[in-house]
Amino acid sequence: MTTGAAVMSCRDVSVRYGASVALHDMSLDMHRGEMIGVLGANGAGKSTFVNALAGWSRGAAAVSGEISLLGRSIARVKPHVRFRSGVALVSEGKNVFGRVSVSDHFRLIRIPAPEDTRFRVTADEIFELFPRLAERRSHLGGQLSGGERQMLALACALLSCPRVLLLDEPSIGLAPMIVTELLQTVRRLVDRGLPVLLVEQNAEAALKVVDRVVLLETGRKVLEGGREVAGDSRIQDAYLGKRKE
Ligand SMILES: Nc1ncnc2c1ncn2[C@@H]1O[C@H](COP(=O)(O)OP(=O)(O)O)[C@@H](O)[C@H]1O
Ligand SMILES: [Mg+2]
Repeated sequence: MTTGAAVMSCRDVSVRYGASVALHDMSLDMHRGEMIGVLGANGAGKSTFVNALAGWSRGAAAVSGEISLLGRSIARVKPHVRFRSGVALVSEGKNVFGRVSVSDHFRLIRIPAPEDTRFRVTADEIFELFPRLAERRSHLGGQLSGGERQMLALACALLSCPRVLLLDEPSIGLAPMIVTELLQTVRRLVDRGLPVLLVEQNAEAALKVVDRVVLLETGRKVLEGGREVAGDSRIQDAYLGKRKE
């Protein structure tokens, strides 16, 4: 169930890398308790979009358009300040520190003061959500499997008390069973109120948990709708492998 005004919004966000435009006029509203899937083929502009929301880029990206958090513009705010304001991005690289233990990762996070609009979990709850991390709390980041690193990156994002969570391809490189488990865990967080933007190439897995999807093609939103869009031929053709030729 979604409630109230948008937590995060963007209007006409475009991103250029030099002369090439990777994202055109993207607009989207994210609400409490809502999980939105961002689908699209490789190179469609999915990472460019979530990175722009977080104020981050792998290169010299020129971002235009409006981005707001709880009605306040953050479009010109630095990435670390956006993070402190509650915009948590788990980027494609699943960044964790190789020589820092699981429990020391948690100690590195400065937990902000409690506020109604922030999602709050304790380290104990994190270990309940991710029992694998509890078993491996003394292991170093570099000793974890891909799935465990993904869980740790997600756990750190959650401990920062986010207002929105942006997940860039959490399923990449993970076994199908782990993907299902991970996405179901994320869904439970959404049901506790946290808005989540989930970037996925794996449309089939995403469509099981999201409320709404947007489909990007070469940097443009070409489709937006509820789960019923799973039946749209553009999604089926491109990602579910059901093309009949
Ligand atoms: N740092 C960068 N510099 C130049 N071009 C980039 C950069 N990052 C991405 N691109 C280009 O922007 C387009 C969208 O990329 P990306 O957002 O990573 O797509 P996706 O995440 O959907 O696979 C691609 O054509 C890609 O080559
Ligand atoms: Mg990407």
